[in-house]
Amino acid sequence: MHYRVYICTGPHCGPQAAALERAFEQAIAATGLDEQITLRQGGCMSRCEQGPNAMVHPGGAAYTGLSAASVPTIISQLGQGGHPLHSHTDSQG
Ligand code: FES
Repeated sequence: MHYRVYICTGPHCGPQAAALERAFEQAIAATGLDEQITLRQGGCMSRCEQGPNAMVHPGGAAYTGLSAASVPTIISQLGQGGHPLHSHTDSQG
């Protein structure tokens, strides 16, 4: 499975997007998953108040309230066979 992680760069999440992108890059490099996970920038996901946010495709799992500290866990979950953290999935969305 190849995942694309879209980091929200919308008006609410944008100020933290660069720091999150660095955290994702570091976690991907540390786990050697650069062949399996591609980082992208995404637009507003209409969850601004829960931000900063990211979304993973395929699957469409939304990660809300992100911090750099939570990124390594997300990456290792994706690397272990692709079960994104459902606790962060917004089923309403
Ligand atoms: S700006 Fe990120 S969800 Fe709206």
